[in-house]
Amino acid sequence: MSFLAERLARIKPSPTIAVTQKARELKAAGRDIVGLGAGEPDFDTPDSIKEAAIAAIRRGETKYTNVDGTDALKAAIACKFKRENGLRYSKEQITVSSGGKQVIFNALLATVEPGDEVIVPAPYWVSYPDIALLCGGKPVFVTCPQNNRFKLRPEDLEAAITPKTKWVILNSPNNPTGAAYTAAELKGLAEVLLRHAHVWILSDDMYEHLLYDGIEFATIAQVEPRLYERTLTMNGVSKAYCMTGWRIGYAGGPAPLIKAMAKIQSQSTTNACSISQAASVAALTGPQDFIAEHNKVFKERRDLVVSMLNQAPGLACSTPEGAFYVYPSCAGAIGKTTPQGKAIANDEDFVTYLLEAEGVAAVQGSAFGHSPFFRISYATSTEALRDACTRIKRACEALT
Ligand SMILES: Cc1ncc(COP(=O)(O)O)c(C=O)c1O
Repeated sequence: MSFLAERLARIKPSPTIAVTQKARELKAAGRDIVGLGAGEPDFDTPDSIKEAAIAAIRRGETKYTNVDGTDALKAAIACKFKRENGLRYSKEQITVSSGGKQVIFNALLATVEPGDEVIVPAPYWVSYPDIALLCGGKPVFVTCPQNNRFKLRPEDLEAAITPKTKWVILNSPNNPTGAAYTAAELKGLAEVLLRHAHVWILSDDMYEHLLYDGIEFATIAQVEPRLYERTLTMNGVSKAYCMTGWRIGYAGGPAPLIKAMAKIQSQSTTNACSISQAASVAALTGPQDFIAEHNKVFKERRDLVVSMLNQAPGLACSTPEGAFYVYPSCAGAIGKTTPQGKAIANDEDFVTYLLEAEGVAAVQGSAFGHSPFFRISYATSTEALRDACTRIKRACEALT
């Protein structure tokens, strides 16, 4: 008999966090490492947000708050949903947690019965399947083909729905591919979902503001109001506001679901950090111009990385619409041999080779459920990216 619970065996540690950790350790040991594994902006949290946090500390906002968010933050979130997404949510329809990850956790723990199916379009953010599994659910993967720009096709969604389907998770812009759905594409998926009234929709809009080339953001409850009553629209301040460490995520959805999620949170972490909540009010209600400034830099970096990777033999990289990731194919490197005589059999071998030979830390596509690809985060300095892409090209040229 194991001391550890059976549920632990269902999941694995987050592979993206593992890569970041490994890169950090190698760096500390003196290796020359370029880390491209992390899913967080390299920009610092804007000063206006930091000042709001300091002011909250000085005002003594250092106590427990309402479990699922202060009134001030809920009001700011309600305004944001109305202003940016045309969605109306009352205070009872809004929840605040310690990061978007906890929002998802609360939602699935509150609703998933053993054996319930959670449709996860692949490539997916690494945590969706494991959260579903921890909650006793069964992730059902649906491949989003590269020739459909890594987006879910309505016919594939239709085919994946069964009487046991509880949720479908949509994520746009997507981690790891950067793919973003247009309103028309979401409408196509909504047509399918309207035919299956038992299916709930979790819309993970975490990368909403990170869109390039003038593409407009769309979210499913806005595109198809008839789905509003069974959609949880999730978002957070981590990425757009450069606040990954502050741990604030939020969602709007039907009041009974929001209440159930608060019940769970009341027996786990209670409220999200009071200071971080005050900072998030400033983030959502304060000046937003730094977002466009950051996006300009992100777009330049994206274009640089795509163009440099496409010069590496064996790699093919399409241009993503949003987020800060590229997801190149390494199909042309599979079956080749490294100068050390190791065969590259899959994308995990490929990223291991990149790390060992050139000190570049990327994440294998298998972690996101779609091979043979790998993910590079371009949320790091332009010089580091140029250096990393030069190293990757050299590594690819050395394969025989
Ligand atoms: C698609 C997606 N959703 C949610 C999250 C969770 O964000 P948070 O840091 O707010 O928990 C991430 C973080 O990487 C993400 O990539």
